[in-house]
Amino acid sequence: MAHGTMLLLLSLALALGPAVGFYGGSMMFTPGNRFPDGTVEMHFYYRESSRGPCGSQADWICESGSCGILTNTEPVVTDSAAENLWCQSEVYMATNVTSNGPFILSSSGCCWEDNVHGVGGWALRTHVDAGRRSDTHSPNRSPVSAAIPNIRIPQNCFQSIRLLAHDPDDDDVRCRFNDANCTGCHQHPNIHLQEELCTLRRENALDVGVHVFELILEDYAVSNITVTDVSGVSSVNNAVSDSSNPTALSQVPLQFAVEILPPSQGCVPGVNKPSFLTPTPLHGDVHHAAVGEAHEITLRAQISDSSIYDFQVSGPSNMSKTLTSESNGVLVATLTWTPQETDLYRRVPVCFAADTLHSQSEMRCIIVAVAKARVLSGDAKVICEDNSISIVVSKATMDGIDQNWLQLRDPTCSLTSNDTHILGTMSLNTCGTTMDDSGDFIVFKNEINSFENPNAVITRRNQVKFGFSCQYPKMAIVSNGYVNHKSDYIFTESSFGTFGYAFEIFTDSSFDSQVDPSLYPVQVQLMDQLYMGIEAHTALPEVTLFVESCRATPEDNPFSAVFYDIIKDGCVMDETVMVYPSVSTKYDFQIQAFKFTGGFDEVYISCSVILCAKDSLNSRCAQGCLGQAARRRRRDVSQETSRHYITQGPLRVARQARNAASNDGGFLHMSTSTGVFAGLFVVSIVVLVGILVYNARRTRSVDRMHLLSTF
Ligand SMILES: *[C@@H]1O[C@H](CO)[C@@H](O)[C@H](O)[C@H]1NC(C)=O
Ligand SMILES: *[C@@H]1O[C@H](CO)[C@@H](O)[C@H](O)[C@H]1NC(C)=O
Ligand SMILES: *[C@@H]1O[C@H](CO)[C@@H](O)[C@H](O)[C@H]1NC(C)=O
Ligand SMILES: *[C@@H]1O[C@H](CO)[C@@H](O)[C@H](O)[C@H]1NC(C)=O
Ligand SMILES: *[C@@H]1O[C@H](CO)[C@@H](O)[C@H](O)[C@H]1NC(C)=O
Repeated sequence: MAHGTMLLLLSLALALGPAVGFYGGSMMFTPGNRFPDGTVEMHFYYRESSRGPCGSQADWICESGSCGILTNTEPVVTDSAAENLWCQSEVYMATNVTSNGPFILSSSGCCWEDNVHGVGGWALRTHVDAGRRSDTHSPNRSPVSAAIPNIRIPQNCFQSIRLLAHDPDDDDVRCRFNDANCTGCHQHPNIHLQEELCTLRRENALDVGVHVFELILEDYAVSNITVTDVSGVSSVNNAVSDSSNPTALSQVPLQFAVEILPPSQGCVPGVNKPSFLTPTPLHGDVHHAAVGEAHEITLRAQISDSSIYDFQVSGPSNMSKTLTSESNGVLVATLTWTPQETDLYRRVPVCFAADTLHSQSEMRCIIVAVAKARVLSGDAKVICEDNSISIVVSKATMDGIDQNWLQLRDPTCSLTSNDTHILGTMSLNTCGTTMDDSGDFIVFKNEINSFENPNAVITRRNQVKFGFSCQYPKMAIVSNGYVNHKSDYIFTESSFGTFGYAFEIFTDSSFDSQVDPSLYPVQVQLMDQLYMGIEAHTALPEVTLFVESCRATPEDNPFSAVFYDIIKDGCVMDETVMVYPSVSTKYDFQIQAFKFTGGFDEVYISCSVILCAKDSLNSRCAQGCLGQAARRRRRDVSQETSRHYITQGPLRVARQARNAASNDGGFLHMSTSTGVFAGLFVVSIVVLVGILVYNARRTRSVDRMHLLSTF
C-alpha cells in the first residue's frame, strides 16, 4: 500500500521534473602532512544530494590562488532511497599546496530541483588558507556541517531547523546566506537566519514546495591570531569579539533543499511525526571513534499515527545502515562505520532524520571524532543514582593525565582520587550539570576537562575532555519530586573529596522531622515560624560548616534581581532569625514567614555555604561575621572548599487569611495537587521548559532594593 503511493508520487515527480535535480551540497577540509619543501596536503570531503540517479555533478576547479593539482576519488553513494527519490554521495579530494596565500575552489551546475522560487543554477565556493595559525601551529581547519538529502516538513509544522556548526579548532562559526548582496535572503522573506546559532526560524508560513537554501559557514578566531604563509609573511586575524569587521579564516558552502509538504493533521512528536527515543544521540553530540574499530550509532524513533519506513542519513563513505522494527511503531537503525588510517583526526559529521510518507522527525547532526585509539574505552564507569552521578576513571588508562588539573563543567567542582582511580560525584543540579530532553528520557550531562595554568605558554600534560551522562525516564523525574523539592547537593573537590549538603524545611524546632519532599511547594501562612536546617555530609572527620549568606528570592535563582538578604557576609540581617546551637556540620535556624510584595506568591531560600578544616584559624569559617571592609582575603584551598550555592523551596505563601478550620496551627498545609497523575507527561515538559528558561535568564544583578512585607 505504502509502496504503491510512493510509486505514484515518483511517477508524478518524473513527469514534472528533470531527471536529476540538485538537492544541495556541503564541503569541509582539513590539512594533512607538511612536506620538507613546505607544501601541505589538504584533504577535502564533499557531499552532494540529488533527486534522481546518484553521483556527483560537481566538478571542482581552481577559481583563484594556487590550488595545486586536485586529485579526486569516484563519488561513493552514502545513502539513497528507493525509486531514486533522494540520494547522497561523498567525494574525497586532495591537493598539495604551497601555503602562499588563500585560494578558492569552486563548482557550479545548471539545475537545482524544481523549486518555488525558480532558482536554476547553483554555485559552490570554498575559501582555503594553508598558512600556519599562531594558536594551533598548523593550517586552519574548516567548519564542519552537513544536511540530510531531503528535509521534508508539513507546512503547519515548520518552526525551525537547527544546523550543525562545529569547528575543530574551536573557532566561532557563523552561518550566512551565500552572497554579499543578500539575494539568498530576499528569497526567504519568511525565514530568519540566526547566524551565530546557525538556526533557521519561521517568521511566516512557507509555500508548499521545494525551497532552496544556499548558505556559507565561516570560522572566526576567538582570540587575536596571525596566519603565516610559507615565505614568512603574517596576516593578523583579530578576535571576533574585538573587531567590528572580522575576517573569516575560511568559508565553506552548506546548501540544501527543504520540501514543504501539504499541512498535516497535527505536529505532535510521536503521534503525527516521528519522535526520537533513547539512545539516539542528541543534536551536537561528539562521539569518539578509533581507527580500525567499528563505531556504532543507534537511532530509534517512534510514531503512533503512521509508520516510519526509513532513516535518511548523511554520513561518511562506507557507513552502513541496518533497519530493525520493534513493537509500538518503533524503528531502529544501526549505523556502523570503521574509520581507516586516512580518517585519522577527522571530525566527521553525521546527520539523520526518520521518515514517514507524510512527515519527518527533526534533523539531528552529530560529530564523530577519529583518534588513533580510544583513550577511555571501557575504563571510565558512570554510576547513575536517583539524585547523583558518579564517575570513576582508572588512572592506569589515563597516562599523562594529572588529576590536579581536571575539573567539571563548573570550575568550582574538581575531582578527587584514591590510589587507583579518579573519582567525581555530583548531583543533578550541581557542578554545571545540564539537562536535555531526548524524547522519552531526560538526560543529565557533564564533562571532565583538563585546564591549564593561564600564564603557561607550553604544557607537558595530556589534554582531556570527555562527556558523561545519565538519563532518567521522564515519568520518574517527575514522580521523584526532583523538580520541586531539591534533594541533596553533592560536590567534589580535590582536597575535600566528595561532600554534600542537605537543605531541608522542618516541621518544628526539634529539627527532627523534615517536610516530606512530595509535599512541596510547602504552603505557609504569613507570620508562621519556619524551621530550616542545613547539614553537611562528608567522610572527613574534622570539618566545620559555614553559612556565609542566605537570601530569599521569588524565583529559583540565587542571582534573581529581586531578593531579600537574611544572612550576609556571615552576619544575620533579619531580626526574626534565631539560630539554634548545633554540631559543627549543622546550621539550624528559624525565621518568620514573609512574602515578596508585587504579586509574587513563592519564596525560595538560597544559601552560599563553605566547608573548612576545623582547626584552621585563617579559614573563612573561623572569621565569622565580616563587615564590608574586611571581605577581601586570600583563600587557602587546602583549608576550605569553594563557595557553593544551595537552594530550597518554594514556600507558597497563602493569600487568604488563616482558615480557622485548618489544623492545629502548625505552618504546614500540604498541597494535594489535583490532576497530577493525569498530567504527568505534560507536567514534565512544562517543567523542563521552566528550567531551561531559568538558566537562560540567570543574571547577576543584585543591586536592586526590593520591598518586603512581613505579614
Ligand atoms: C603530495 O606530495 C606527497 C609527497 O611528494 C605525495 O606522496 C602525495 O601523494 C601528494 N598528494 C597529492 C594529493 O598530490
Ligand atoms: C552585488 O551588487 C553589486 C552592485 O549592485 C554588483 O556589482 C555585484 O556584482 C553584486 N554581487 C553579486 C555577487 O551579485
Ligand atoms: C586584539 O587586537 C585588537 C586590535 O588590535 C585590540 O584592540 C584587542 O585588545 C586585542 N585583543 C586581545 C585579546 O589581545
Ligand atoms: C570502504 O571499504 C573498503 C573495504 O573495506 C575499502 O577498501 C575502501 O577503501 C573504503 N573506502 C573508504 C572511502 O573508506
Ligand atoms: C578506588 O575507588 C574505586 C571506586 O570506588 C575502587 O573500585 C577502587 O578499589 C579504589 N582503589 C583503592 C586502592 O582503594
